[in-house]
Amino acid sequence: MPESKTLFITGASSGIGAQTARQAVAAGWNVGLFARSEDKIAKLAEELGDRTLALPGDVADRNAQAAALDRLTGKFGGIDAAFANAGTGVTASGTEGGDPAEWHDMIHANVMGVLYTAHAALPYLRKRKGHFVVTGSAAGRRHIKGSIYGAAKWFVHGFAGNLAEEMSEWGGRCTVVAPGMVDTEFFDEPDDSRLHPSDVADAVMHALDAPARADVREIFLMPNRNAG
Ligand SMILES: NC(=O)c1ccc[n+]([C@@H]2O[C@H](COP(=O)([O-])OP(=O)(O)OC[C@H]3O[C@@H](n4cnc5c(N)ncnc54)[C@H](OP(=O)(O)O)[C@@H]3O)[C@@H](O)[C@H]2O)c1
Repeated sequence: MPESKTLFITGASSGIGAQTARQAVAAGWNVGLFARSEDKIAKLAEELGDRTLALPGDVADRNAQAAALDRLTGKFGGIDAAFANAGTGVTASGTEGGDPAEWHDMIHANVMGVLYTAHAALPYLRKRKGHFVVTGSAAGRRHIKGSIYGAAKWFVHGFAGNLAEEMSEWGGRCTVVAPGMVDTEFFDEPDDSRLHPSDVADAVMHALDAPARADVREIFLMPNRNAG
């Protein structure tokens, strides 16, 4: 890469987002690390060095995301890609047995948060024919009994396709990365037979590294539990 490109990552404090930050910095990108856990992103920024900027904030807060992008572009001159990855699950499963207060917070993070990232990032991405990547899910590709989380990810998949059409008008690209279960803090108990965060980060980097003529619209990856 002749000049360093810059990537804004939401949900960068752990799991898929943190690992993608590590791999992007190793590949020569500057990275903005956005999440609520100030201590964790500060620690990651310290680990990864000058190419990073810790940007504490809540994705459900539109102004916080706009302010973070303002700071990031102020430091590195612009952005070439945004990875809308922040997301959360719910503890009460199903619809009848679900908790509407949990749905409220989850939908504000997983749906409105993604829209706020796109709305704040697009003016910058347009300037560089940039790339929007978003974390969908296997749960956004198939029906899961009563799942409101899954329904929110169906929104993400639908939105990503629509945004790809909008961005292509000015040479931009949009990718939804849809993993099955990944071994992250999303779950209380670790399980090595799930995908690893690096598997998902590899997919993100593949989409970002594709030649500008190729818009990788979707990457769907599942754990191969019988791999041995
Ligand atoms: N793990 C899986 O099996 C799996 C499968 C498919 C898709 N996904 C999706 O992958 C994405 C990343 O999850 P993960 O598996 O890497 O889990 P994780 O380790 O729990 O990471 C979630 C990240 O999102 C951030 N986040 C959550 N709510 C936020 C908010 N309101 N504002 C800002 N940041 C917020 C968290 O940071 P803070 O708490 O510090 O804010 C954290 O950095 C999510 O969108 C998730 O739905 C996960």
